[in-house]
Amino acid sequence: MNVIKVKDYDEMSEKATEFMVDRINSLENPVLGLATGSTPEGLYQRIIEKHQQNEISFENVTTFNLDEYVGLEQNDPNSYYYFMNEKLFRHVDIAIDRVHIPNGAATDLKKECMEHERAIEQVGGIDVQVLGIGGNGHIGFNEPGTSFTSKTHIVDLDESTIQANARFFNSIEEVPTQAVSMGIETIMNSKEILLLVSGEAKADAMAKLLNGEVTEDFPASILKKHENVTVIVDEAALSGVE
Ligand code: F6R
Repeated sequence: MNVIKVKDYDEMSEKATEFMVDRINSLENPVLGLATGSTPEGLYQRIIEKHQQNEISFENVTTFNLDEYVGLEQNDPNSYYYFMNEKLFRHVDIAIDRVHIPNGAATDLKKECMEHERAIEQVGGIDVQVLGIGGNGHIGFNEPGTSFTSKTHIVDLDESTIQANARFFNSIEEVPTQAVSMGIETIMNSKEILLLVSGEAKADAMAKLLNGEVTEDFPASILKKHENVTVIVDEAALSGVE
């Protein structure tokens, strides 16, 4: 893993933007894997600015999101569909039929999972996958114990994940307990991975990632086996690393 150390969240977002602008401009038909959550918000904001300054276009870009909550309709303000639309898609020139986010409200969720995999394969795989990391080491919503050979699947969210994400909901009872998530193998099949990590809440996870072994008990550890991973991490997130 190529680890780039930065000062803080803003510098992480700046560096991530440079990285993504370079890939969007150099790939002919970029296929991007995208994450939600707080971590990539600064990146998406800056990408919108680059688009407004005519430095990038999404005309030829196809996107696949990592995950979606089970049971939330696309127009639910807590759905990841809504998040992506608000934070990125409606501000750029992307064709909506090139946007792929699993539908967590689908009646046949297994079919929805298979469709997500099939659509990724059909475009020849993901060129660059953006990831955040959970405090428990999850990537996508692949919680500790998930098989490294998993493909897009329905997952039960960890209690710690439900608690961490409760900040976006009115009450913890409203947080969905399940999600559809790309699997670990789906993520590992991406040609390149960009992992963004910021803040003290991620310090333990970062220490485990850098110093620990590769184990299904800590899903992000598998990234050490991928040949093209860039980690952009700030000082606070590195505070647990000796
Ligand atoms: C989001 C996702 C999750 C988040 C992780 C970190 O699509 O797949 O793995 O990246 O939970 O979330 P934040 O960035 O909110 O700390």
